[in-house]
Amino acid sequence: MKGVILAGGLGSRLYPLTHATNKHLLPVYDRPMIYYPIQTLVNAGIHEVIVVTGGPHAGHFLGVLKNGRELGITHLEYAYQETEGGIAQALALCEDFADGESIAVILGDNTMDADIGPAVRSFSSGARLFLQKVLDPERFGVPVFNKDGHIISIEEKPAQPKSSYAVTGLYIYDNKVFEYVRQCKPSHRGELEITDVNNLYIESGQLDWVELKGFWSDAGTFESLYKTNRFWAEKSLGEGKRE
Ligand code: G1P
Repeated sequence: MKGVILAGGLGSRLYPLTHATNKHLLPVYDRPMIYYPIQTLVNAGIHEVIVVTGGPHAGHFLGVLKNGRELGITHLEYAYQETEGGIAQALALCEDFADGESIAVILGDNTMDADIGPAVRSFSSGARLFLQKVLDPERFGVPVFNKDGHIISIEEKPAQPKSSYAVTGLYIYDNKVFEYVRQCKPSHRGELEITDVNNLYIESGQLDWVELKGFWSDAGTFESLYKTNRFWAEKSLGEGKRE
């Protein structure tokens, strides 16, 4: 399996911080934010990675990640997303990189401390989502379940969520994902939505899910960036890595 990290966008909800650099290079305790999703992939045995970025600070990634060796990556590619066209549009840029293999996709502002290795190794085909119970599901993609616990649809940021789970920004897809992306149309916010891709997998009966254990947060707002920083600082300090 190969890894995809989506690190585009303008990060406008974090202005003025993101006037200085790309959101995914902002500090999360003692590292740039993007180190965390990279570590999640590398710890799961994924060493071939593509970073999709965009916006005015895209060049900053080279200086920070270089060729990826220091982080355990054996093959690092970069792709440039020319417009803010959404997560699914960014994915479309990874088809050559995937080269027929399955991919684990992480949004570059999602950090988590779970070991995703077992879910990666047991994946065979289709799509696998990672869900977590949250207090504010209306901020996320929200799954709708049937009585057997299967997901029958996903609603993107619903005003009235039908469950208390969020679809986290970690996804595993087989190579059909690129075909499904081609079928997507821009949403009301003008983006190709990853939720639409997931709904196509649901319609074809090829989507399953696991609960993401441990800490997970996105970091796209000041509140979530602060929460993320606090968690990783406390975890690191608690483990005695810093005075
Ligand atoms: C995106 C997805 C959403 C998902 C979230 C996780 O939202 O569209 O389904 O729950 O990431 O972080 P966005 O950050 O683009 O608003």
